[in-house]
Amino acid sequence: MGRINVAVVGVGNCCSALVQGVYAYKDRGEVVGLMNEVFGGYTLADIDFVAAFDVDARKVGRDLSEAIFAEPNCYDKVYSVPKTDVIVKMGEVMDGVGEYISEHVKVSEEKPVDVVKELRDAGAEVVVNLVPTGGVEASRWYAEQALKAGCAFINATPAEIAISGEWASRFQSANLPLVGDDVMDQAGATVLHKALLEFLVRRGVRVEETYQLDIGGGLEALNTLQKDRGDFKRRVKTSAVKASLPYDVPVVAGTTDYISFMRNSRASYFWVKGSYFNGAPIKIDIFMNTVDAPNAAGILVDVIRGVKLAMDRRMGGVILPLCAYGFKRPPTLMKIADAEKFIAEFLGDGSDH
Ligand SMILES: NC(=O)c1ccc[n+]([C@@H]2O[C@H](COP(=O)([O-])OP(=O)(O)OC[C@H]3O[C@@H](n4cnc5c(N)ncnc54)[C@H](O)[C@@H]3O)[C@@H](O)[C@H]2O)c1
Repeated sequence: MGRINVAVVGVGNCCSALVQGVYAYKDRGEVVGLMNEVFGGYTLADIDFVAAFDVDARKVGRDLSEAIFAEPNCYDKVYSVPKTDVIVKMGEVMDGVGEYISEHVKVSEEKPVDVVKELRDAGAEVVVNLVPTGGVEASRWYAEQALKAGCAFINATPAEIAISGEWASRFQSANLPLVGDDVMDQAGATVLHKALLEFLVRRGVRVEETYQLDIGGGLEALNTLQKDRGDFKRRVKTSAVKASLPYDVPVVAGTTDYISFMRNSRASYFWVKGSYFNGAPIKIDIFMNTVDAPNAAGILVDVIRGVKLAMDRRMGGVILPLCAYGFKRPPTLMKIADAEKFIAEFLGDGSDH
């Protein structure tokens, strides 16, 4: 199989975890912590980063191996990435930097580059969009650049791209894969909440009300405190969780606060109230602590390889099985087990799945 040339947009915490993880796994040759050693016939050793874009003066102009550790990123250095020779280029700011994070992101004064040219010159095949939540115009703009450059587009953000019929048909016409929206973490709050509810429903428990609220220390947690941005993300999380229940009950899911000293960790609180045999009450109260960025990277490494497989098969447009497997707001919302069946059918042979 060939190599996978990846361009990243937004060299923030998720990008840092993704780049560190890919290099670390390549170097160590181990598989602990991966969902799939082989996915779509590819291993992590097949992933190469060939281009990167950001707007922060502390990242633009630097080698990707250094930019991932520049402030305000707060995901720890868990692996020393060797020089990549990929210089982070200046993108278009647009609505990428929201009001709440504007004092933390120091927008570079450099002129934006021609992203299409950069993507083409770098031989990029897959663009991973990791701009902050609420960067809707920016996400659309980068999707447009990916289309023009002949690249597949992975929308890890909640901006409505894969879910939009218009973008789906444009990528379909160009015969380029499109997947999204909003990555569902490898072992994060949404997927655990869904799994718990699906388990309870299978066991005959009538769920009456449930919430999952979290607090984080990454800039994204602060960004989503901005009401318009946070409300939207909350609706995305809530609809993902609701899809795991066969009936309508009160469900709340979302980020409620930002505490800078937590750095990139996230504290998630789950509550479920319901009843089972002959009306007996059940209450579940769970606390989970995770590190945010690697939780997205753990899924992105599969999605990147799945997108490359779709390209090998000359598939264009929205790749539904990948959307259902790796995202909170796919065009078709599913239960976890259904999404896993769907992705296994898509992958066929050549993966652990
Ligand atoms: N577990 C997770 O962390 C997780 C899960 C699901 C979705 N996501 C999504 O991933 C995205 C990235 O999250 P993060 O924690 O890495 O955020 P972050 O704030 O750490 O990084 C965002 C980066 O984008 C850059 N940026 C802002 N505007 C830009 C523009 N117009 N062009 C290029 N770069 C721009 C910022 O300078 C920053 O480096 C968010 O949309 C978030 O919702 C993350």
